[in-house]
Amino acid sequence: MRFSFNCQATCSQTKARAGVWNTPHGIVETPRFMPVGTLATVKGLTPAQVQTTGAQMILANTYHLHLQPGEGIVQKAGGLHQFMAWKGPILTDSGGFQVFSLSELREIKESGVTFRSPRDGRMIEITPERSIKIQNSLGADVIMAFDECPPANATRVEVERATQRTYRWLERCIQAHERPQEQALFGIVQGGIYPDLRSEAARSLVELDLPGYAIGGVSVGEKLELIHHIVNLTAPLLPPHKPRYLMGVGTYREMVKAVAAGIDLFDCVIPTRFGRHGAAMVKGERWNLKNAQFKEDFTPLDETCPCYTCENFTRAYLNHLIKSREMLGYILLSLHNIAELVRFTQRMREAILSDRFTSEFAEWLNTSPTPR
Ligand code: GUN
Ligand code: ZN
Repeated sequence: MRFSFNCQATCSQTKARAGVWNTPHGIVETPRFMPVGTLATVKGLTPAQVQTTGAQMILANTYHLHLQPGEGIVQKAGGLHQFMAWKGPILTDSGGFQVFSLSELREIKESGVTFRSPRDGRMIEITPERSIKIQNSLGADVIMAFDECPPANATRVEVERATQRTYRWLERCIQAHERPQEQALFGIVQGGIYPDLRSEAARSLVELDLPGYAIGGVSVGEKLELIHHIVNLTAPLLPPHKPRYLMGVGTYREMVKAVAAGIDLFDCVIPTRFGRHGAAMVKGERWNLKNAQFKEDFTPLDETCPCYTCENFTRAYLNHLIKSREMLGYILLSLHNIAELVRFTQRMREAILSDRFTSEFAEWLNTSPTPR
């Protein structure tokens, strides 16, 4: 069996679970945070460095890799794993979400999405079939269905149409998928903030018996209470013996609440984006390392963090690097930030395994949500 998800422990008070997921390129112990490597690189870090953070699976993007270098090059290189020298599991997002958020002049039709290439101005169409074909060429372990993610300000009618279209597109994705033995195709539950649309979407997707499921459309700027409500409602409708992935979510409280609802996997660009902007994630806060308060602070960024950055460097040194705009500063901060989020999900996993999840994470479970 190339893909199998085994639940090792469940929390006695919430729906949280710890699992081991087998993929063709190794295991993923869940819950776990997945760093984003949009262009087949986790920005600034070598695969060996990414590995030291405890990350087991990383993400790449169909939209970006199609534009540059093109899936043909990646395929000629022997696939994404060979091309970028990441030996562990990889997931590619389908491109739909990125087209909506990044390109100009996009047009959504039943056939697919047309947009103007930011590279050369050419019009490009990505259909469900095209997205799957590209993802088959890229060769990630997990590929995502091509979906329509409506914006947070969409009306109920618009969300309903997008959700139903996402289902029809999923049927086309399944038909187009040429490597189901090697690549697990995940369905994406849409439905916006509407409980009935979410549960209907989940029900119809589950009938298709896919190897895993994602909840999409929750990182588009809606209220955090609504995310909790939707995830609480949707996650339990997904099959217990398959991985569940909450797309684009990587803040502490949202991850804890989602794990409590039964989510296994997360991704978010925050750790690398913060790192590139000279910011560190420490003790649940965002610290700007340029700040003069760090100038003569010869302690590690976080004395509890076992990452390479915290083991070897001081806040004063990081302050110096960031103030001097030295590359290494951004690299060391990205490394720490990824390690921090991965470790946070590992801590949840260990707590679930010893049934201490609700007591250890009570601080995040009970307090009212505030955005970070
Ligand atoms: N990343 C974050 N949210 C989404 C979503 O709804 N769909 C896809 N394809 N990717 C996402
Ligand atoms: Zn660290």
